Amino acid sequence: MSAVKIGIIGGSGLDDPDILHSRHEKFVDTPYGKPSDALTIGQIEGVDCVLLARHGRKHDIMPSKINFRANVYALKQEGCTHLVVTTACGSLQEQIAPGHIVVPDQFIDRTYKRIQTYYDGEEGSPKGISHIAMHSPFCERTREHLIASVKSLGLTCHEKGTVVTMEGPRFSSRAESKMYRILGGDVINMTTVPEVILAKEQGLCYAAIALPTDYDSWRESEESVSLDVVMKTFAMNAANGKKVLLDVIPKIAKEDWTETIQGHVATAKEAIM
Ligand code: ADE
Repeated sequence: MSAVKIGIIGGSGLDDPDILHSRHEKFVDTPYGKPSDALTIGQIEGVDCVLLARHGRKHDIMPSKINFRANVYALKQEGCTHLVVTTACGSLQEQIAPGHIVVPDQFIDRTYKRIQTYYDGEEGSPKGISHIAMHSPFCERTREHLIASVKSLGLTCHEKGTVVTMEGPRFSSRAESKMYRILGGDVINMTTVPEVILAKEQGLCYAAIALPTDYDSWRESEESVSLDVVMKTFAMNAANGKKVLLDVIPKIAKEDWTETIQGHVATAKEAIM
């Protein structure tokens, strides 16, 4: 049974290094540039983990400027087999309330400024073009672990969900927010794309804990999303996100992932033309 190593990408307010024991920092570089910040390397109940603050530890990197390729590559380079990530999001559905947890299974891409592949034809990039299959963007087995863990903690879990990733950094207009509901969106954020796509190109087991902070801008009866609204649920969501990570990571590490990882690596390889 090959050991797993868990990469944790912490979203806004969800990147507390205190969750790792015996930790140290490591600044790394990649062929795609530098990741958002130092990697924090440590353990959760004896399981090797690597934490990275997606927006940097000072939260000074806006979504369009995040070097997603470097972030995912750095974690893979460090030996991670899994990426379990947290992301703050807005809710596009009445039944998904702030404080709930969504484990997304699909995305709708509304970004337009981001590089979505490692196979970009540039010098130093891997050869070929990656036409990677995206019918199931997230690792189903890792998702199942997250769902079980959220439920076991007594938190409200939405077992599926389509996350709309918008470019940002502004929030949506009411008309856009209503459109995303018509399109089938359940939650909205600014970072799942291209992170999930790049993780797939790297053959990693990737799943997300999406933490709704607000009802975006569609709901006439509710205060529309603003930084102030988002900040109000931040602390509660951060505590929930932390609980899930501490619970799920030891459970993931107890299992043999050899075949699952081989499957993800094969999917990534078969996509290269
Ligand atoms: N992150 C938190 N709330 C959000 C929203 N409503 N839209 C986009 N990203 C978000």
